[in-house]
Amino acid sequence: MYNDRVMEAFKNPKNVGEIVNADGVGMVGNATCGDIMKITLKIDNDIITDAKFMTYGCTAAIATSSTATQMIIGKSIDDALALKNAQIVEYLEGLPPQKIHCSVLAEEAIKAAIEDYRNRQSGQRTVVDEQNCRMV
Ligand code: FES
Repeated sequence: MYNDRVMEAFKNPKNVGEIVNADGVGMVGNATCGDIMKITLKIDNDIITDAKFMTYGCTAAIATSSTATQMIIGKSIDDALALKNAQIVEYLEGLPPQKIHCSVLAEEAIKAAIEDYRNRQSGQRTVVDEQNCRMV
């Protein structure tokens, strides 16, 4: 069902975990399958210096979250915001059609984490947890 690249990202995921005192936290869920992805970011001068993920989900969700964190470390927040799920899928050399939606979680979790970062920058206190996980 999955190609070798996806299986490698699934079996040896990078950037697993949660950044303590993260500058931005995003948590999104898929309303249909119930899978949840949380991305935490360390950001310095609008550059993402670290990214970690925790995903409760399928093989594709784990592979795409790992890949997404790898793709945004070292990028500006504007470049990370521009990352589309199709680019993540392309990097992984494809996903089964019925699994494309899993890659959307990664794109949306990054967006949510950057939005949280910007809210914090403007003085808004954001609580990100399972209670207010954004469903996509
Ligand atoms: Fe839920 Fe893949 S089936 S994210």
